Amino acid sequence: MTRRFPDAFRFGAATAAFQIEGANHTDGRTDSIWDVFCRVPGAVVNGDDGSVACDHYHRSADDVALMADLGLQTYRFSTSWARVRPDGGPVNPAGLDFYSRLVDQLLEKQITPWLTLYHWDLPQALEEKGGWANRDTAYRFVDYAVDVHEALSDRVRHFTTLNEPWCASFLSYIGGEHAPGRQDPAAGVAAGHHLLLAHGLTVQELRQRDAEATLGITLNLTVPDPVDPADPADVEAARLIDGQFNRFFIDPLFRGEYPADVIRDLDGLGLDEVVEPGDLDIIATPIDMLGVNYYHGEFLSGHPVAEQTTTAAPSERPKRSPFPAADGVYWHPRDLPLTDMGWEVQPEGLTRLLERVHREYTGPAGVRIAVTENGAAYDDEPDDEGHVADVERTSFLTAHLHAVLDAVDTGVPVEAYFYWSLLDNFEWAWGYEKRFGIVRVDYETQKRTPKLSAETYRDVIRSRALPRISS
Ligand code: FCB
Repeated sequence: MTRRFPDAFRFGAATAAFQIEGANHTDGRTDSIWDVFCRVPGAVVNGDDGSVACDHYHRSADDVALMADLGLQTYRFSTSWARVRPDGGPVNPAGLDFYSRLVDQLLEKQITPWLTLYHWDLPQALEEKGGWANRDTAYRFVDYAVDVHEALSDRVRHFTTLNEPWCASFLSYIGGEHAPGRQDPAAGVAAGHHLLLAHGLTVQELRQRDAEATLGITLNLTVPDPVDPADPADVEAARLIDGQFNRFFIDPLFRGEYPADVIRDLDGLGLDEVVEPGDLDIIATPIDMLGVNYYHGEFLSGHPVAEQTTTAAPSERPKRSPFPAADGVYWHPRDLPLTDMGWEVQPEGLTRLLERVHREYTGPAGVRIAVTENGAAYDDEPDDEGHVADVERTSFLTAHLHAVLDAVDTGVPVEAYFYWSLLDNFEWAWGYEKRFGIVRVDYETQKRTPKLSAETYRDVIRSRALPRISS
C-alpha cells in the first residue's frame, strides 16, 4: 500500500546564495554582512567563511544536471544582493548574468526556478548606514528586487521576498549569533519591522509590474507546546515564544497588525516609534504563497529544568537570547531523537503547524502554502567512494513527507516541498561542520556524491508516492 501525492504537488530542494556560491569577490560582487561577520574572531565555528563554499558560482551547470538526475521538479535558490548591486549601489550586469544563466540551465531541464530575493546577505555598505534598523534599507531592497525582476521575470514566475525575517532581525540584531552580530533589542525590533515593510513594498511594486507572478514570503515558524498545558506558567512561556517567533511576523502579514500581547511584551523597545502610518497596510498587501520553514517545535515552561536545551551555535563570540522579552522561559527536553544540531525530530509538529497556519491565516486569505525548508544535519560517514548511507536523514525525510500528506489529507493546500538542502553547505555560525545535504560535498575536491537520502527522494519523486507506515 502506498500514499500518493496530489498530482499538482511539486518536489524540490533548497539552497541559499551565501551558503553555496563562493566567488565572493568575482565579477564585481562586494562584501555582504556575512563576509564581514566571518572575519570577526569567534563568530563562526572553526573560522570558516563563504569565500569558496560549494563553488556553485562556477559549477551551476553541473549542479543543475545533478538536480535533474534526482528528478527535482523545482529548485529554491536565492539571489545575492551584493552580487546584483555591489555595495547596494548601481546594478551590476555581470552579477545578474549569473542568475540568468542559472535560470536557463534550470528551464532546460524542466526544473521550475523558485527565487528568494533575500536570504540574509545584506550588502555591508548598507549595514554601515544602519542596516535593517534603518528604514531606508526597505526602499533600497525594492530597487534591488526590481532589478532582479526585470532581468528574470520572463522566465521566473515564483518570487519570494524574504527568507525567515525572524533570523534576519531577532537572531542577528538581538541574539548576535548571525550577521551583523549586534546585541541590541531595539535595533532587532526595528529590523523586524523594516524587513516586513521591505516585503510589503516589494509585493506592491512587483504586483503592479507583473499581475501573474506568484509572490510570497518564507517564514520560519515553530510549534510552541507548554510542558504542562494545565500550568499557567508553562502556557505563558509558550505564549511568549509564539508571540516573538511566529506572531510578530505572521500577524502583520495576514491581519495588518502586531498582536496586542506582543506589543505589550515588547514595550519600551521602540516598536511604536518605527511603525509609521500606512506601514501595516503595506505589509498586509495580499500575497499568493506563504513559504513555511519547519525544523522542530519547542517544549516550553515557566519552571527551570536541570538540563535546559539550547539550539544556539557553539561559536565563541558572546551571544544573548534572541527573544527580547522571554525572561523566565525555559526550554525543556523531550523524549525525542535529536539531529546533529541538537534539534528534536518532531514530524507531527509539521502537520500541526500547517493545519494551524491554514486555519488561522492562509486559509481565510486564500493563500497557498509551500514547505520551503525542512531537513536535518547528521554526522555523515562517507565510504571510500564518498557515498553516505544516511539512514537517519532518509527516515527524517520520509517521516516529514508523511507529515505533509497528513496535513494535505485534512484539507491544507500544500503545493510543494523543498528539502533543505540539496548540498552540504556553509551552515552560518556553525560553518561547514554541519551537513544538511542529500548530496555530499567533499570540500577538498568539490566532488558531489548523492547520499542514500537523495536516492530515496528520487524514488519518491518518480513514483509520487510513499510506502505506508505499518502500525
Ligand atoms: C534555516 C535557514 C537555512 C539553513 C537551515 C538549516 O533557518 O534558512 O539557510 O541554514 O536553517
